[in-house]
Amino acid sequence: MDITVLYTTMTGHSRKLAEAIASALSLQAVHIKDNPDLKGIDLLFFVGGIYGGQSQPETLDFIKGIDGTKVKKVVLLTDCASGNTKQTAIRDLLVKNGVDVDPDEFICKGSFLFFIRMGHPNQQDVANAIAFTKEKLDLAVKAAQPVKAAQPVKAAQPAKAAQPAKAAAKPRVKSETKATSPKPKTTTKAKPTPSEEPVAKKES
Ligand SMILES: Cc1cc2nc3c(=O)[nH]c(=O)nc-3n(C[C@H](O)[C@H](O)[C@H](O)COP(=O)(O)O)c2cc1C
Repeated sequence: MDITVLYTTMTGHSRKLAEAIASALSLQAVHIKDNPDLKGIDLLFFVGGIYGGQSQPETLDFIKGIDGTKVKKVVLLTDCASGNTKQTAIRDLLVKNGVDVDPDEFICKGSFLFFIRMGHPNQQDVANAIAFTKEKLDLAVKAAQPVKAAQPVKAAQPAKAAQPAKAAAKPRVKSETKATSPKPKTTTKAKPTPSEEPVAKKES
């Protein structure tokens, strides 16, 4: 699988992220100014910032030259002061050119004017970007794996000959020992109480 990490930068933040990502994948990050000849790329990680609410015009010009015959899939990573502005114009251009752009976009803060978002992208931002990149790479590798050939259907097993019905259960031998326990009583005669004893008639 051919993978490339590409970036554009004005103040160096995107380079920092791109170099960390590339190093984690044992690659070298490439600046668009190096005018790389992008061909036969399966997965391209593109890192860039936001300026005046959008991508730089020269970045957009470069992106216009990428299409689905050169690059199969792009994953965007963005650093900006707001921490939530996406590289929407880049995504739209790529999609228009037939490139599959991952719906997820990594975004982290990028400092601006020395005091806004100072220190970003920081170590944690870099670690998050690397984790995101590795996850996307794993998914792309899995998606590229050939689907396992369907298992041939097993030949139908010949139907087993019906088992002869088991001999009917032996009839019980009549002379079986009878239960010896006494018959349970079903009725109890109440004994008349003394007052109820019939009085014997006196013989006159
Ligand atoms: C001239 C200029 C304009 C910027 N405009 C925005 C902006 O509109 N929105 C934003 O979120 N960040 C803005 N930023 C902050 C950058 O997007 C941020 O610093 C980013 O990390 C820069 O990436 P880079 O160093 O790779 O060029 C601006 C930065 C500069 C230098």
